[in-house]
Order: sequence, then C-alpha cells, then structure tokens
Amino acid sequence: MPQPPNFFQRIRYSIFPGTLRTEKVREGYRRLFNSLLLHFRPRSVPEDTLRWTLTWGLGGMAVVLVFLLLGTGVLLKFVYQPIPEKAYESILHLQRDVLFGRLIRNIHHWSANALIIVAFLHLLRVFFTGAFHTPRQFNWVVGSASFLVILFSNFTGYLLPWDQLAFWAITICTGGLEYIPWIGLWLQKLIQGGPEVGPATLSNFYAIHTAILPAFLLILMPFHFWRIRKAGGLVIPRGPEQSAGDRGQTVPAIPDLLLREIVVALALLASVLVFSMLFNAPLGDKANPGLSPNPTKAPWYFMGIQEMLLHFHPLFALFVIPALMLIALLALPYINFQLNTAGVWFASTKGRRMALIAGVAAVIGTPLGILADEYLIEVAARLPAIPTWITNGLVPLAVLSAVIVAFYVFMQRKYAAGNTEAVQMVFVLLLVAFLVLTVTGIWFRGTGMKLLWPWNMGILTG
Ligand code: HEM
Ligand code: HEM
Repeated sequence: MPQPPNFFQRIRYSIFPGTLRTEKVREGYRRLFNSLLLHFRPRSVPEDTLRWTLTWGLGGMAVVLVFLLLGTGVLLKFVYQPIPEKAYESILHLQRDVLFGRLIRNIHHWSANALIIVAFLHLLRVFFTGAFHTPRQFNWVVGSASFLVILFSNFTGYLLPWDQLAFWAITICTGGLEYIPWIGLWLQKLIQGGPEVGPATLSNFYAIHTAILPAFLLILMPFHFWRIRKAGGLVIPRGPEQSAGDRGQTVPAIPDLLLREIVVALALLASVLVFSMLFNAPLGDKANPGLSPNPTKAPWYFMGIQEMLLHFHPLFALFVIPALMLIALLALPYINFQLNTAGVWFASTKGRRMALIAGVAAVIGTPLGILADEYLIEVAARLPAIPTWITNGLVPLAVLSAVIVAFYVFMQRKYAAGNTEAVQMVFVLLLVAFLVLTVTGIWFRGTGMKLLWPWNMGILTG
C-alpha cells in the first residue's frame, strides 16, 4: 500500500507532476524534454565545425551580449524615468546614489556597442565562409533581421539618457526620415509622436526599446538557432575535391562544444566587466532643445550614412542607397552562385586575392572621391536648371554603379573567376567604402561638418 504524499511532496508534485508517474511515464517526459531541447542543441557535432577559425565564437558572443543587455536593461528600469524633466536626473541619481548603478549603466552601454560590432563581424564571418547558401538562405534573412533589431535597439536606447548628445543625434536622424517618399513625414510624426523630438518621442522610444524590440529579439533568436539545427548544424568546411555529404569525424556536444562555449562566454563577460570598470558611458549636459551643438553628429553606426549626406542629395543618401543596400543584403543568398567549396574563407585563393584588391581599391578610391567632391566637383552649381536630385543623386549614383559594373567585368575576366568570387569582391568594395565613409564622418569632420586635416585636428600641434 503506497504512502500518501507528505506536505513537501505535495508541493513538489504540484510543480513537477511527472515525478508522480511510473518510471515508464517519467521516461516519456524525459524524452519529450530532450527532443524539445534537441531542436536547439545537437547531441553530437562534426569535429571540423569546432575549429576556432571557422566561427571565432562570434555567434555565441552575440548571445551572451544579448542576455547581458536584457539583464542590465531590466535593472536600469528600476531607476530610469522616461520623461524629459526626470530622465537626465534619473541617470545622475543612478550613477551617484545607487549601489553599482554606474557599473550597470556602463555594462549596458558598452555591451550594446560591442553587440553591433560582434553581430556585424558574425555576419562577415558567415558571408566570407559561404555559410549562407542552401539550406541556410533563410537563416541569413533571420540573422539580418536580428541585426536590424540590434541597430534599432541601440538607436532607441541612445535617446534615453536625454543629454545634448542624445537629443541632437536623434533629432538629425529622425529629421532625415522626411526624405522617404510618400510616407516620410507620416513616419517621422509617428516615431517622434509629434512634429519634433519631445516628451512623446522619449516615451515612444522607451516603450519600443524596453518591450517591443526585446520581444522581437527573443522571437528571432530561438528561430535562428532552430534553423541552424534544421540545416544539420554549422557549415562543414569542404574543399572542391570533397563530397557535400561527408560530415567527417563527429564528437559529443557535451563536453566538446559546451566547454568551448563556456570559455568564450566567461572570457567575454570578464572583458566587458573590466572595460566597464575602467571606462564610463558618456553623459553630456542635459538636453537643451534651444541650443544645437556644432557639429551635430548621428550615432557612430549611422555616421557612414551622414557622411553620404554630404555627397549625395538627401533622397539618395538617406533612402535610395540604404534601401538598395538592404535589398542586396536580403537577396544575396538567393543569387544562383557557382559553388564548389563550403566553409572555406573567401571561397578560394582566387577569391582571397580579388577581395584584397577590392579592399585596397576602396581604401584608396573612397578618400579620393570624398576629396574630389569636397574641393573639385560642383555639378549642381554649374547646372542650376536641373533639379539637384538628378545632378547630386541620380547622376553620381549612375556613374558609381557603372564603375562597379566595369570593375566586376574586368576582374572576373582577368581572374577567370566564378560569380561567387566576383560577387564577394563587390561586397568587399562596398563594405570598405562604407567603413571609410564612417571613419571620415566620425573622426575627420569638425565644425560645420568641414573636413578636418591632421594640422587642424590638433594631432600635429598637440
Ligand atoms: C539588444 C538589446 C539592447 C540594446 C542594444 C540596448 C541599448 C541601449 C543603449 C545604447 C542605451 C543608452 C545607454 C547610455 O549611453 O546611457 C540604452 C539605455 C537603456 N536601456 Fe537598453 N538596450 C537593449 C536592451 C534593453 C532592455 C531589454 C531593457 C529593459 C527591459 C533596456 C533598458 C534600458 C534603459 C532603462 C535605458 C536607459 C538608461 C541609460 O541610458 O543608461 N535595454 N540601451
Ligand atoms: C542577435 C544576433 C545574432 C545572434 C545571437 C546569432 C547567433 C548565432 C549562433 C550562436 C550561431 C552558431 C555559431 C556561430 O556561427 O558563431 C549562428 C550561426 C549563423 N548565423 Fe547568426 N546570430 C546573429 C546574427 C546573425 C546575422 C546578422 C547573420 C547574417 C546576416 C546571421 C546568420 C547566421 C547564419 C547563416 C548562421 C549559420 C552559419 C553556419 O551554418 O555556419 N546571424 N548565429
């Protein structure tokens, strides 16, 4: 005759009803749990995919940073107040009076910035190891969506401290929205909650930042991991002579994979902690809508676009070019590539060489283009009768596109390369050009967004 459960057992059974069942039923529960878990985690992995130089642990680092942001973000909510009269003071109070308040803000700030870099490097590793082809195409799209969510999380978070930096950076960014055809002004009003950045913008950004975007991320991430499992795990490095189905030697995920993940996670946590102890998140003067700083700059991750604004008509710099880039990013895995390797950095030796040439061409060509536009070319002034969106938008874009197509055809013929290497080369060209624009915008633009030279940057004169 079985004993009736005592008080504590009754509590336990109410939480884990499975433990009340027979051994056979319990085994069923265990299997169900395991098979749910196996939708995300493999039991064994090909040894080749554990190679450090395949992933650099970047996807795992992004996961750690996201959880660090969720954790510190929730803590910040205990003190932060999303109204203009109190937001800035609540940050001061957090830093001065709350135990570990400054550290938590620093961790949130630096993890957020690190996440953009880590997720972007992860995107590059996936691209350059060709890990976005079938059956991983849709996961590239899911990853890209996650990257956009990360960018917008950073962007909405940027306003929250309500200092001069935050107020004016967001003002110029939302100001640019009006150049989106047809819906621009409506979208601007919707996001700002009114005709300009003010109390409604702050509460909008706060709700989007602390509820909507984290929810998106928490949906996209498990989906991303599930798709990795469905693709049979990470891309397995394979040369032209190896067959596609060969998984090579496999090893158990626990401990081989788990141990590596733990090492990466702990090393990253330690680095973020030390960095946050040494460097404080910036905080300027309280926002003053009547006094704009000069120059007013966008957050650093949008500086490439702001720099473009100095060279193209706003319709092109703020809408046409970013939209084309986004479409290209999403469509990339659906191009019909000629492939005979997988998981090999830059696809082949030829691919590596072509990428290097494209990188060097962009490092030299972009600054020359910036200088020429700054000091030599003034098409709009010479042709005042033609609208500037043609002279400063359509024409330069058409010229640049023609240069890129000519470069593509020339290099493909010269190296007798397939389209995998050639598309990769154009990707590198655009990527490096954008990075040069970003660096120029961040470090080489001063008052009135005029170009800064080393002698007027104070580097030579001290
Ligand atoms: C991908 C996730 C996230 C990113 C990239 C991110 C980014 C940022 C950034 C860049 C700031 C400005 C920090 C500063 O310089 O002061 C910020 C502030 C803030 N975030 Fe997040 N955040 C994320 C998730 C969250 C979550 C999940 C919450 C809460 C549920 C949250 C709550 C806050 C609060 C309350 C502030 C204002 C405090 C402050 O500015 O220091 N964040 N966030
Ligand atoms: C929140 C941001 C992201 C997180 C947390 C994340 C996480 C991960 C993890 C943990 C992996 C497996 C390990 C690794 O490759 O390092 C992975 C693989 C992958 N990720 Fe991401 N990822 C993110 C963003 C992205 C982005 C921006 C892209 C591309 C646009 C992307 C595309 C992929 C693809 C295609 C794979 C499979 C790679 C393969 O099979 O080798 N992910 N991701």
